[in-house]
Amino acid sequence: MRTDSSPQTIFRKDYTPPAYLVDTVELGFDLDPDRTVVANRITMRQNPASKSRDIVLHGEEIELVALRLNGKTLAPTEYHLNGSTLTIRKAPAKAVLEIETLCAPVQNTSLSGLYVSNGNFFTQCEAEGFRRITYFPDRPDVMAKYTVMLRADKAAYPVLLSNGNLIEEGELGDGRHYAKWEDPFKKPSYLFALVAARLVCQEERYTLQSGREVLLQVWVEEGNLDKTDYAMQSLKNSIRWDEERFGLELDLDRFMIVAVGDFNMGAMENKGLNIFNTKFVLANPRVATDIDYAGIEAVVGHEYFHNWTGNRVTCRDWFQLSLKEGLTVFRDQEFSADMIGTDSGRAVTRIDQVRTLRQAQFPEDAGPMSHPVRPDSFVEINNFYTVTVYEKGAEVVRMYQTLVGRDGFRKGMDLYFKRHDGQAVECDDFRAAMADANGRDLRQFERWYSQAGTPIVTARTRYDAVKRNFDIILSQRCPASAGQADKLPFHIPVAVGLLSASGKDLPLTLEGGKHAKGATTVVLELTEQEQIFRFRHVDERPTPSILRDFSAPVILEYDYTDDELLHLFSHDSDPVNRWEAGQRLAMERLLKLTAQVAAAGGSDAGLKLDATFIDAQRAVLTDDTLDPAFRELALILPSEIIIAEQMDVVDPQAIHVARQFMRRTIGAALKSELLVQYHANQTPGAYSPDALSAGKRALKNLCLSYLMVAPDMAELKLAQQQFEKAGNMTDRSAALVSMIHSGAEAGPYLKAFYQDFEHEALVIDKWFAMQAAAPTTNVAAVRKLMQHPAFTLKNPNRARSLIFNFTSANPSQFHAADGSAYEFWAEFVIKLDAINPQVAARLARGMDRWRRYAPALQAKMKKALEKVAGRAKLSNDVLEVVTKALAN
Ligand code: TRP
Ligand code: ZN
Repeated sequence: MRTDSSPQTIFRKDYTPPAYLVDTVELGFDLDPDRTVVANRITMRQNPASKSRDIVLHGEEIELVALRLNGKTLAPTEYHLNGSTLTIRKAPAKAVLEIETLCAPVQNTSLSGLYVSNGNFFTQCEAEGFRRITYFPDRPDVMAKYTVMLRADKAAYPVLLSNGNLIEEGELGDGRHYAKWEDPFKKPSYLFALVAARLVCQEERYTLQSGREVLLQVWVEEGNLDKTDYAMQSLKNSIRWDEERFGLELDLDRFMIVAVGDFNMGAMENKGLNIFNTKFVLANPRVATDIDYAGIEAVVGHEYFHNWTGNRVTCRDWFQLSLKEGLTVFRDQEFSADMIGTDSGRAVTRIDQVRTLRQAQFPEDAGPMSHPVRPDSFVEINNFYTVTVYEKGAEVVRMYQTLVGRDGFRKGMDLYFKRHDGQAVECDDFRAAMADANGRDLRQFERWYSQAGTPIVTARTRYDAVKRNFDIILSQRCPASAGQADKLPFHIPVAVGLLSASGKDLPLTLEGGKHAKGATTVVLELTEQEQIFRFRHVDERPTPSILRDFSAPVILEYDYTDDELLHLFSHDSDPVNRWEAGQRLAMERLLKLTAQVAAAGGSDAGLKLDATFIDAQRAVLTDDTLDPAFRELALILPSEIIIAEQMDVVDPQAIHVARQFMRRTIGAALKSELLVQYHANQTPGAYSPDALSAGKRALKNLCLSYLMVAPDMAELKLAQQQFEKAGNMTDRSAALVSMIHSGAEAGPYLKAFYQDFEHEALVIDKWFAMQAAAPTTNVAAVRKLMQHPAFTLKNPNRARSLIFNFTSANPSQFHAADGSAYEFWAEFVIKLDAINPQVAARLARGMDRWRRYAPALQAKMKKALEKVAGRAKLSNDVLEVVTKALAN
């Protein structure tokens, strides 16, 4: 909680090296939920790179019991405690500090530092949680070796875990026991972790490619041991993949994953002891969907890959967060794609990435919290674990690979580790390694790190039939963003192909280009504000396929005709652009229909959808040569959020009505084809989460959802039967969602679902989430759901399932004309803030785009923002978000 008057902004330019370096840390814990004693012995020495002789330690929400310097107790006059910093002035060159503190884990509802979840102890230290455990120079450029002694009641906490290797364990008498852990690698404090709990594990010995044997463990609560197989399999796949793709080996003899039900984010890469939200560990066919399985694979991979990109090489300061996060997201994306193995499967993962970017990152980059991939300032670092730092950061890393090629990228990675293993470095160091390993000048590329906002690339083309030249003229601009008015040109790789009238890729000859002869895709490097690229020997006017594979995180403007888009939609060899052509066709129509609905006062009477579009949808739906997963993506219309981003003044109700009209019309026009595909894409037999089966289920369930927009008796029956007979959660929940969304009586099914899964917390989250996101659920219904005994604000997954799904996945109800949902938002931002500021601040982001709504809504949103901002007791987390929303 904020104690001083105004929060402080931290600037990247103010970085100074630490005055003291830490060699070793010895921690002793006497674990007790109400009163845990932490003894900390730090060996420090003066940093030659600093002139300061002041030891600066951080500490929050802990009680200082004793402080000794080189064996001598310091009197309160010999150090300075100011807010959360403790300073010892003019310290000796070598210092051994002994610090004893107290904390109360059971009262820690922020889930940062040491806390209790379902009676067990866990820690979360990134970014600045270690200071809630003990006084320490809690900054990532201070790396040290840790030894940890854990003491706790044996009956209540039979399992005692920390980073690295278990070197000793035993009894203490009094029913207590101990375990001593040693981490052989230097690490920053944010990677420290401990677990003291009643848990069980699935474990396995695994042989690395080098022949070394390691112990792998997945720790869960007793009843969940039937849900650990997929996490274990994903861990083994991750280990193998990092060896093969990047030559990176697991550096410990033991690697542990622990699942916890109360967790602020997805998971955490603590050295050798990854701690996970249960959502990203627990799965079996009964309780987890295909999307859950994919999430587990990705997050297990992500945290494992951090062992090299994040832990062995870490960040100098938190402004460099994308150094580890952007790179590690890129690595987990490539891992998931490689696990599918096929080109079409790869494309499906790529399309999903583009959707995430448009749905979440583009809006962030155009809103009040817009920041560069490497921010220049922050109030609360927890607010900068964003889609920009993670997903746009991954796009930036992907662009290196696009520019220097896969082998060149590997060379850059090798050089990065050769130079920086064991160090805390900057984004610039990664860029330098990529440039130096490939002999490339990547100075201009730095702007991807320093400039915020989504660049807009505009393309024009001209064809000279006599000279057989085809020119693509690319220009770029980037809108002003929060705190950044003028932007310089970016270094943008634009992958391009040209299609003939018959839909074939033309072999390309780029004037001055260095590409392989006969190539059908070339990467244009746009570095200036405007550039002309000339293709020679082009015998007919081609249809350009621009930004293939989404080669840069930009908005592409090109004046495509409907005919050109239809041509690309049926022929483009690049699946991402093929999908993209369909999205453009749909978006044009959605925007027109939305305008018509708005003009008609919200009514969909008289709306029409052209046969051309429906025919194109039919063609994709019934094309059995296409991957089912691809067909599903090609048939999903742009989301209401993505449509909203295209409008100057957003009318959420009109968008919803228009999109529903389009879905209803497609559902009616393609009824027989949808039914055929529904039956053709069944996956009988034992459940398997593989990409092909998951794709079939996705397509089948999309068919069902179209049939259920305005269902007749037979269609209702289909959904009911699927619900009753489903052998897996994917099909069961899809059937239930289709019933809820259709407005048909879903009550008995919701009830049955609840009773079946009453003891599966993650499934009950789904039960809340699907109701919260249904356009038939208004704010009153959400408030009623909050009265349900299973609802609690204290568990982040549960709070998110109901509140966040309503405020961010149900736009037509959230933006109800009377503003009642905005009041609801304000009320729960405030309530959550008193419990968990990190979670509250995420909810607060739900009002980011308030300036884009019609004046009547804007005024109500502003009022809600002001209500929150005006509270006397607000965390820095929430204060930063609402202050920026009101200011920009
Ligand atoms: N570093 C973690 C990851 O990307 C995420 C993380 C950061 C986190 N801060 C956190 C997780 C706080 C939980 C709580 O994998
Ligand atoms: Zn990460």
